[in-house]
Amino acid sequence: MYVCHCNVVTDRDILEAIANGAQCVADVARATGAGRTCGNCVDSLRDLVCKHCPVRAGRTTERPAERELGVAGAAR
Ligand code: FES
Repeated sequence: MYVCHCNVVTDRDILEAIANGAQCVADVARATGAGRTCGNCVDSLRDLVCKHCPVRAGRTTERPAERELGVAGAAR
């Protein structure tokens, strides 16, 4: 399934990047090119990293700034 249509990046590409050590959206972007054009896929990238990265597993999809502001998960 395509996650980043702008850069033709699939969920398999992203999972491969995570398996190769990507631990955040920036790592995935560097490894795959995803998220660097319109940015519409960034939330999906974040969800995949949070769900599949062993370092981040078990954490929420909240952004650090949201956590600090106490608004994490308010609209999700
Ligand atoms: S859909 Fe990923 S950058 Fe546009």
